[in-house]
Amino acid sequence: MPGRHSTEQSWRLRDEALAIIPMATQTHSKAARESLRGVEPCYIARGQGCRVWDLDGNEYIDFRNGLGPVSLGHRFPAVEDAIRRQLENGILFGYPSPLEVEVAQQLVEVIPCAESVRFLKTGGEAMAAAIHLARAFTGRDLVLKCGYHGWLQASSGPGVPEAVAATYRDLPWGNPQPYEDAFAREGGRIAAVSVACAYADAEKGRAFYPALRDLTRRHGALLIHDEIVMGFRLAVAGAQEYFGVTPDLAVFAKGISNGAPLACYLGRRDVMESVRRAVISSTFGGDTLSLAAAKAAIGVYRNEDVIGHLWARGRQLHEGMRAAFAEFGAPADVRGLPPCGQLSFRTGDRERDGKLLLRFEAEILRRGVMIYRVMYPNYSHSEADVDEALGRMRAALGAMREDGLFE
Ligand SMILES: Cc1ncc(COP(=O)(O)O)c(C=O)c1O
Repeated sequence: MPGRHSTEQSWRLRDEALAIIPMATQTHSKAARESLRGVEPCYIARGQGCRVWDLDGNEYIDFRNGLGPVSLGHRFPAVEDAIRRQLENGILFGYPSPLEVEVAQQLVEVIPCAESVRFLKTGGEAMAAAIHLARAFTGRDLVLKCGYHGWLQASSGPGVPEAVAATYRDLPWGNPQPYEDAFAREGGRIAAVSVACAYADAEKGRAFYPALRDLTRRHGALLIHDEIVMGFRLAVAGAQEYFGVTPDLAVFAKGISNGAPLACYLGRRDVMESVRRAVISSTFGGDTLSLAAAKAAIGVYRNEDVIGHLWARGRQLHEGMRAAFAEFGAPADVRGLPPCGQLSFRTGDRERDGKLLLRFEAEILRRGVMIYRVMYPNYSHSEADVDEALGRMRAALGAMREDGLFE
């Protein structure tokens, strides 16, 4: 049995927060789930390396990593030192900081499509900027959109005017046919195809990206890669490097600065220069702390084999989990590529799958392992850390089997 796991203080604070913070969080995916009341930690107090501690003092091996950005590890020394040093010089000025040029130069050197670079704060904001530029450059309105690009790009649902929804077509991952059909129907109106690599079926990108590249070129539209998750994870330059396809524009955010809030949109100089006409401007766009963090983080990626480490630890995790699922007869699988695999239970009954996943999460949280639907290894996970996490997962599966959840 796991030791005592109490999250009482977390839940008390979360219930207080609900009165003044809708959902008690700024990020939907960080909202504590009522069905995990008393188990899920609603608040994290601190992190170090690959571990975090919740408000009640419970320790976890962390595969959430801030939902992706913390790719080097919590309090990674090179990044933390860079932020501290910059803090002594000030955070934000009325003219740009030289750091903007230095980080832009680093990005131009490591990202194939990057001729010009600009900075913003969040991934969704930078995707909005890329789409805005594509529309300004082509003089067209429609965007064929694949995957989640952040709340600003919501193309349906409450709060989205019909006129805005009409400028997007949401299309599925992996099969170019619906895109070909859309271009055949209304090619002259399509400014861009924007695409975020899927997790579970990422390898379909091998044929999908080249097909989109070819289609957009033939029709005078732009290809925009949302590299917010895949950048600095699958490869330094994300899907464009891994699949060998150079888009016109791309957005990088999460992994670029190890958790400091920074996003960039970058790409072809002629397209990027349209920013003079299609004004995109942000007071906080060049804040020095996140740029100092990015400069240090990108330096680590260039000097050390971070990507190789994320792949190796991801592989170890996936293989270990698959072996444990087989050993305990759990109807579960991990799909996708090792740096960002996705866990799912697969019994054929979606409701039961959801319940099993929640129960698994509860059992591993009690034992000190924290995952998200997508599991993110970081550069601070050692082989021993991943083995320790796997041992705790096996104990969790054992408890589930004892409860008769699978044979
Ligand atoms: C693929 C992808 N694009 C865009 C975003 C939005 O980024 P942000 O939350 O920084 O606005 C996310 C966030 O999870 C994402 O996963």
